[in-house]
Amino acid sequence: VNYPKEVSAVSESPEILILNGPNLNMLGVREPNIYGCETLADIEELCRKRAIAHGLKGNFKQSNSEGEIVADIQSARDTAAGIIINGAGYTHTSIAILDALKISELPIIELHLSNIHAREAFRHHSYIAKAATGIICGFGAHGYVLAIDAMARLIECAD
Ligand code: DQA
Repeated sequence: VNYPKEVSAVSESPEILILNGPNLNMLGVREPNIYGCETLADIEELCRKRAIAHGLKGNFKQSNSEGEIVADIQSARDTAAGIIINGAGYTHTSIAILDALKISELPIIELHLSNIHAREAFRHHSYIAKAATGIICGFGAHGYVLAIDAMARLIECAD
């Protein structure tokens, strides 16, 4: 089969798992003054293109369920070269997600659209931060592009 160039390059590329937590499926209509006007589908497309530019494959997921996010992180141990996670509300509550991230032994980037430190006090603490290699927040949808650039560097340095 003669696949288009882009497709064949992607199938051999290292995978990065890009996980999105609860309510991020509502981007576009959800408090656009805080989270921006891009939809999650817009962000997924941004990520797909940026990953390809680095010779990586972005596996982009969203779930409203903590257990599903834990299961995705567990699977990534065998399938992914790194994890970018916007844990959304679970960032501030989930020891289970923190534990799963630690088990993965992968480079991890914590990501938020908004600057969580400039917001309500309950958003200032992050469990995910304890497992993260680095944190990006406050750049809106562009933060995903920054996170993929940073992950590409981390993966390159690990080789
Ligand atoms: C968020 C920040 C969280 O505090 C919030 O619960 C979210 C989104 C962000 O991307 O800015 O759902 O992770």
